[in-house]
Amino acid sequence: MKQFIDLEDIPNVNELIKEAICLKKESLEYQYLGKNKTLGLLFFNSSLRTRLSTQKAAQLLGMETMILNINSDSWGLEFEDGTVMNAKTAEHVKEAAAVISQYVDIMAIRAFPTLNDKEKDEKEQVIRSFQQYATVPIVNMESATAHPLQALADAITITEQKQKPRPKVVLSWAPHPRALPHAVPNSFAKMMQLLDVDFVITHPKGYELNPEITKDTPIEYDQEKALVDADFVYVKNWSSYINYGEIECTDEKWMMTSEKLGEAKFMHCLPVRRNVIVSDEVLDSEQSLVIEQANNRTFSAQVILKNILESL
Ligand code: CP
Repeated sequence: MKQFIDLEDIPNVNELIKEAICLKKESLEYQYLGKNKTLGLLFFNSSLRTRLSTQKAAQLLGMETMILNINSDSWGLEFEDGTVMNAKTAEHVKEAAAVISQYVDIMAIRAFPTLNDKEKDEKEQVIRSFQQYATVPIVNMESATAHPLQALADAITITEQKQKPRPKVVLSWAPHPRALPHAVPNSFAKMMQLLDVDFVITHPKGYELNPEITKDTPIEYDQEKALVDADFVYVKNWSSYINYGEIECTDEKWMMTSEKLGEAKFMHCLPVRRNVIVSDEVLDSEQSLVIEQANNRTFSAQVILKNILESL
């Protein structure tokens, strides 16, 4: 694997999930691969799980890590070509990416969308600029439209936990007081299309995700109907895609409760707002997989870094 910008960079997803589950059992077996190698982690946005699990994954492979919080600790970066840089930005991504490439062997980047400039967000300007000007492989730690490390961790979790060959998986929208990106539901939907699952998306009208991503996945506007016979319920908020970045609905009836969940397992990428997205009762129950999903973030990152290290 030469890079991990999105799920298309995975040659065979089922093989990679199997490899990640094996790594989980023998997590220190490949320490030699990362000897004298450094992972640079660049954060334009906050993180708990991605930061720590990716760092841990690198350490399990024997790598050193360097972390840079770009917005608080570094120079303001310019991404447009030909700009007269006499305002806020002090360094161009052309120099920054080339310079950082001299210090690290793999560069991992987190950069959220603007949620007000759809065109810029869909172009994935930040991660694609680093890809263009860096001379080392790039790993996506959540970009404007995709969170593939999370989707891989979710796929590992479903594969480990499923009780039948073809489980029913429901992606259910939930209310949230702030406008959130589409990266997690986009990548989860793409990943479910690659697995042998019966996949349904449910959300209020007006919350349709990018149709180029959902493709022919069934959309059910009635949450109760969508949840019938569900084995896994993945709950997530996202802002409107059609009225880009807007909050169109805050209806608390969409919050996940034990009654609605039934016998299904509950999933969420975290962080989660209790009693807004999901009730305490669900999160505190045996049916919640959120802690195991976060655990699998280490092994999704480790399997990706391992495959990239093997290609260096
Ligand atoms: N799920 C996830 O990416 O968590 P963080 O935002 O804390 O990294």
